[in-house]
Amino acid sequence: MTDLLPLPRVVDLTGGSFELAPGAAISGDGELVDGLRAALSVLDLRIVDGGGAVTVRRDPGLGAEAYTLTVDPGGVRVTAADRAGAFYAGQTLRQLLPPDAYRSVRPRTPWTIPGVRVEDAPRCSWRGMHLDVARHFLPKQDVLRHIDIMAAHKLNILHLHLVDDQGWRVESRAYPKLHEVGSHRPRTISSYYGEEVTYDEVPHGGRYTLADLAEIAEYARSRSVTVVPEIDVPGHASALVAAYPQYGARPQETFPVLDRWGISPTILSPLPATVDFLTTVLDEVAGALGGAPFFHIGGDECVLDDWAASAEIDDYRRSLGLDTPAELHAWFLRRLADELAGRGTRAVVWDEAFVSGELRADTVVMPWRGMGVARRVAAAGYDVVITPVFPLYFDYGESDGAEEPLAIGAPTTLADVAAFEVIPESWTAAERARVLGAQAQHWSERIPDARTLDYRAWPRGAALAEITWHGRPADLTGRLGAHLARLDALGVEYRPPQGPRPWQRGGIGRRRHRPGVVNVVEMMRHVEEMTNSADSTRPSM
Ligand code: ACM
Repeated sequence: MTDLLPLPRVVDLTGGSFELAPGAAISGDGELVDGLRAALSVLDLRIVDGGGAVTVRRDPGLGAEAYTLTVDPGGVRVTAADRAGAFYAGQTLRQLLPPDAYRSVRPRTPWTIPGVRVEDAPRCSWRGMHLDVARHFLPKQDVLRHIDIMAAHKLNILHLHLVDDQGWRVESRAYPKLHEVGSHRPRTISSYYGEEVTYDEVPHGGRYTLADLAEIAEYARSRSVTVVPEIDVPGHASALVAAYPQYGARPQETFPVLDRWGISPTILSPLPATVDFLTTVLDEVAGALGGAPFFHIGGDECVLDDWAASAEIDDYRRSLGLDTPAELHAWFLRRLADELAGRGTRAVVWDEAFVSGELRADTVVMPWRGMGVARRVAAAGYDVVITPVFPLYFDYGESDGAEEPLAIGAPTTLADVAAFEVIPESWTAAERARVLGAQAQHWSERIPDARTLDYRAWPRGAALAEITWHGRPADLTGRLGAHLARLDALGVEYRPPQGPRPWQRGGIGRRRHRPGVVNVVEMMRHVEEMTNSADSTRPSM
């Protein structure tokens, strides 16, 4: 009936139509008018005191992000309880216009909107996309553009993985060597698993200034997107200890920013000086963002051998009454979460932090190792954002075919994402109530630039929007063609459902396809087993 994506809860075509002209008048509650105009900036709607083609009214009876939208020959009427609801009404209205509504120039003639009544509200409050800007830096303008594409899909959380072994991507005024030393590497591994190891000998780097972060956060906020920063600790620490070895578990040694992929044993010390140092850095990042409702502190893939080998760290563990390095891992993350809580921020962690010990009750867990551990997290009473490798690691290719460009593994298809139930019916009501939503991950070892990100993110991101906003679709493919025309107008280099365009193929060079190296289903079996092992912090990928 319509090609709206994600599908609203209720859509009734009511007959008739309305002609909406560029520069048409809009009136109503100031904040809501602002939200609607932000979504429909292409029309440059003119604010007037009352009346006009578009009217927006606050209805406190609606929930967060919910809206109603009515189009009839008399005009366009919107109700919402908050700015986000009005913004989403604007996004739905934009989808009722021709694809040119996704271009950046004002149309010359009015657009005809079909008569319609829409009632809508999101299924999940967390509709996220994660960007790993550490393995490969993503320039600020590309991040802003990605936010625009997310917002067009009613996705509302941007998880920025700001640091990893291969790069520290944010300015620190308190500890400037973090960005001076940690933000670049002289070269990057160019071989694949099992091949003779080679490097590209090309320097790679980049970082956001605190002013850049502030700009990203403000840009996102005006598009109803919340930035969730991640400083991943205590593992994935090579870039940090390259800058400040004294905060590592082997403080006498020097470390390079890592130039290859995989799990590094380099780990931070859990001693009080490291906690103080990290608290300062977390404050700088949260401050630049203008406050952070959530802050991700990682906790994944930690090799704890250096903690066991250090007499000082071992003594410290015992002084805390903890029996194992794994308990110290959980304690360390809880200690940072306490600092965040004192500032009104909830900690987010990967599932290793849940498996290794007791978390703060308000910590949000991302169970990347599958729905088994996701359910255990929910059953233990923690809020969960569903993030399993399959089908939500979008660095996995959509097919294992020879034309597909290099990916970490395959296949995770558009249909796999569309069929994925983020709130399983087999869970108890109490467990289901713990699911905040779901999120797609873009680990960037094999996503070196924004064009590759477009290819991996879309249209699977449209399916993610559908399952988190609406629920599993009956008919995604029927609406997809119209939606891809919108993405074409927006300039998104998505992966066509029938396969890559000639220039998107792997070719025979550095991007060539390596078939079957990591099968995503086998990978999931392996990581699910890891979450049940006694030593859960043992790295699993
Ligand atoms: C992860 O994939 N290490 C969260």
